[in-house]
Amino acid sequence: MEERPIIDEKKCTLCGRCVFVCPKEVLSIENKKLIVNENDCMLCSHCYDVCKFNAVSFQDALRNIKFDTFKYKEKILGPKDVTPQEIVNIFRSRRSIRRFKEEEVGDDVVRDLIEFAVTAPSGSNCQEWEFVVLNGREKVWNFAVSIRDFFMKINKLAKNPIIRYLSVPFMGKALINYYRDHYETVEMAIKESYQGRDLLFHGAPCIIIIHSSMDGSTPIEDGTYAAYNICMLAHYMGYGTCLIGFAVEALNRSPELKEALDISDNRVHAVIALGKPDVKFLKHSLRKDYAVEFL
Ligand SMILES: Cc1cc2nc3c(=O)[nH]c(=O)nc-3n(C[C@H](O)[C@H](O)[C@H](O)COP(=O)(O)O)c2cc1C
Ligand code: SF4
Ligand code: SF4
Repeated sequence: MEERPIIDEKKCTLCGRCVFVCPKEVLSIENKKLIVNENDCMLCSHCYDVCKFNAVSFQDALRNIKFDTFKYKEKILGPKDVTPQEIVNIFRSRRSIRRFKEEEVGDDVVRDLIEFAVTAPSGSNCQEWEFVVLNGREKVWNFAVSIRDFFMKINKLAKNPIIRYLSVPFMGKALINYYRDHYETVEMAIKESYQGRDLLFHGAPCIIIIHSSMDGSTPIEDGTYAAYNICMLAHYMGYGTCLIGFAVEALNRSPELKEALDISDNRVHAVIALGKPDVKFLKHSLRKDYAVEFL
């Protein structure tokens, strides 16, 4: 497969826009001809996106983004189309949802969310992200139980002060900090789990796991941005989401949990609980004060 653009010489007017925009200097104009050099094209499609004459294509290396559950017509928007206030309200209306209705989520909805996830930026445009979906309350519950069993082992270790201090040479203060910050919460979630309450995924009927190899230049950030795309779009499709860091931790620390999902070689970057929200917020969030210095 050709991993760089193909130029239709009949359409190309040698306007030079693609040369100007290419971040990798793959393109150049020499002797009145547009040359696609051998340099590493990162398939960012910027050349395609600026060509007024549709002279750039990518065969099978790149494809268009498509959605099934809602109407979508591409439109480049700028400051004249959307006000800053609208953008802030669009982003701030997303909240972490921890009360879900029992209503199932369609696979087509999940597919559309993932289709949007992969439009997030990624380091060197590597787009290495991969996804695992557990759709259905029973699947999510069974997974929550496996994670509970993992945390029971961790809590047992963390509870023991001798083990906590003996672990320092191997794990630094990780177990001590875990005991201080999470032991009680996890202990309560374990107890509730035995009563049939899912405090881990908040009773969500679906979860999306984002993982990848660590080969890309910024795999953790890429996975995180993809996750945020999902959270944002889900809100405007009428669904609620919550990022579940405890599940990310458990998966990355437990080879058995990863093996059960057939993702043994990869790192997990995000786990998203998804479902119809059973809570309505009336205000946007408040925030702590923060430090900023202009140097
Ligand atoms: C974590 C991260 C780090 C990035 N670092 C750089 C960088 O150092 N220099 C740069 O030119 N682009 C950088 N990018 C931009 C990516 O190359 C860009 O997102 C990708 O090519 C896709 O293009 P798009 O954002 O226009 O869709 C970075 C992106 C991410 C997510
Ligand atoms: S932007 Fe299009 S028309 Fe202009 S030089 Fe590049 S391929 Fe040719
Ligand atoms: S896809 Fe991106 S890196 Fe490749 S030639 Fe086009 S602009 Fe350059």
